[in-house]
Amino acid sequence: MASEAVSIIIVGASGDLAQKKIYPALFSLFCQGLLPGDFNVFGFARSKFTHDEFRVKISSDLPCHYTPDAKECADNQKDFVARCHYVSGSYDSSDSFLDLYQVMQDTEPSRDVNRVFYFAIPPSIFMDVADAIGDAGFVACDGVNPWSRVVIEKPFGRDRQSSDTLTRELALIFAEDQTFRMDHYLGKELIQNLLVLRFANLIFEPLWNKEFIESVEVVWKENSGVDGRGGYFDKYGIIRDVVQNHLIQVLSLVAMCPPDRYSSSSIAEKKVKLMRSIATVQVDDIILGQYKDGKCGSKDVGAYTSDDTVPDDSITPTFAKVKLSINNDRWAGVPFSITAGKGLDKHVTRIRIKFRHVANNIFCDAGVCPEANELVIRIQPDEAIYLRFTNKTPGMGMNFTSKDLDLRYKHAFDEIIPDAYESLILDVIRGDRSLFVTKEELEAAWDIFTPVLHEIDEQKIVPLPYAFGSTGPEAE
Ligand SMILES: NC(=O)c1ccc[n+]([C@@H]2O[C@H](COP(=O)([O-])OP(=O)(O)OC[C@H]3O[C@@H](n4cnc5c(N)ncnc54)[C@H](OP(=O)(O)O)[C@@H]3O)[C@@H](O)[C@H]2O)c1
Repeated sequence: MASEAVSIIIVGASGDLAQKKIYPALFSLFCQGLLPGDFNVFGFARSKFTHDEFRVKISSDLPCHYTPDAKECADNQKDFVARCHYVSGSYDSSDSFLDLYQVMQDTEPSRDVNRVFYFAIPPSIFMDVADAIGDAGFVACDGVNPWSRVVIEKPFGRDRQSSDTLTRELALIFAEDQTFRMDHYLGKELIQNLLVLRFANLIFEPLWNKEFIESVEVVWKENSGVDGRGGYFDKYGIIRDVVQNHLIQVLSLVAMCPPDRYSSSSIAEKKVKLMRSIATVQVDDIILGQYKDGKCGSKDVGAYTSDDTVPDDSITPTFAKVKLSINNDRWAGVPFSITAGKGLDKHVTRIRIKFRHVANNIFCDAGVCPEANELVIRIQPDEAIYLRFTNKTPGMGMNFTSKDLDLRYKHAFDEIIPDAYESLILDVIRGDRSLFVTKEELEAAWDIFTPVLHEIDEQKIVPLPYAFGSTGPEAE
């Protein structure tokens, strides 16, 4: 019988992602009884901690929302951290991983334990770690019983070529079906609901095409800057950081054709087909910006280049608006756009689908017509779906007002909305790949942007300035 025991090995356990997302998500799953009975978590990094010091460190971020009773939560925290162990060592040393292996063997309930390797480390050391793990004999080759899986997070390379190299090299240690490329946007509740909204309701799909939809925009705005984390961002810029991965994934879920069935392979096939029909982006399709001095509320905020972690002469874009066209029967001629920026006026991620005006609208008066319908899906914050439509304004005369049919999650649902990492980590343990990025999706997404990213880099295109706290560059 297949073993259900799982060891989760978090490489880079001392870091921000592990502390703020991975351990809290595992704890939330534990509180809901969703982890297998025999689970252990092994943290690994260079920083030196004893098991107990490490347990104290992670305890401070373990959330109580699934167990609001203080005693119950404290008991759960105690039980959970007792399953968390820590080993320090070098990322490129198979001896260090053998030390980890020894601790695992002393702790694990049997030899048939399934393993998740979570790489919560900078991508520059992915291959050192993968090689060391491979050399230490950690990875179950058949990948079935017990299984071994690896989780990696974006950025997956800087362009198509470097991404291909990473994919090829990682595949020497972990086969494609053992590799879970995490795009945490895909685990967000509203994104998971997109397929249900489109394909489990009758009313949208018949209208979901160029005959009825005038434009589609995906907007990702942050009202914060790089805040001392510019070291990573400055090497990548906004297109590589969020557009090529999170937002093109969102757009492909909005625009793809219906999958034949609800399965990871069927969904991935339609997403790849959609991405392959997006025209390669040209320089003229993009407005680039970089934030300068400005305000966040009443507080003065310095320019991107004034951050200590950013070079003074950096021309890395913190804003991009990208026009996209999809060359297929469903969408030919419909403008799609992705806007993404840091240091803007709001913190929001939303999809806006604008419908066409009613042909021969009997309520047009002297060329002025009621507004067209809009469907807005707000992914964060305050998850919501709203449909704007025209009504007669109550009272005498025939006047019109647009009002929203408003589905705010916090009013409509009693359930706690899980963090994206909870859903995705559970999917890794269960082996469900539906919300993970396949090799083919990654290739197709890079092909849309690689030529223009090279051109921007080679021509050293200077982004337009915009004030922190504004809506973006003037050219908008
Ligand atoms: N933070 C997030 O919310 C987030 C979101 C999406 C994706 N990611 C991705 O997830 C990964 C981890 O993110 P993170 O924010 O946790 O990163 P991080 O804090 O910078 O790094 C994680 C750990 O890796 C080690 N490390 C850092 N830089 C290193 C270097 N140059 N060489 C060797 N080891 C180094 C450090 O541990 P030791 O010094 O103890 O070894 C550090 O605690 C990255 O690939 C990131 O792009 C993060």
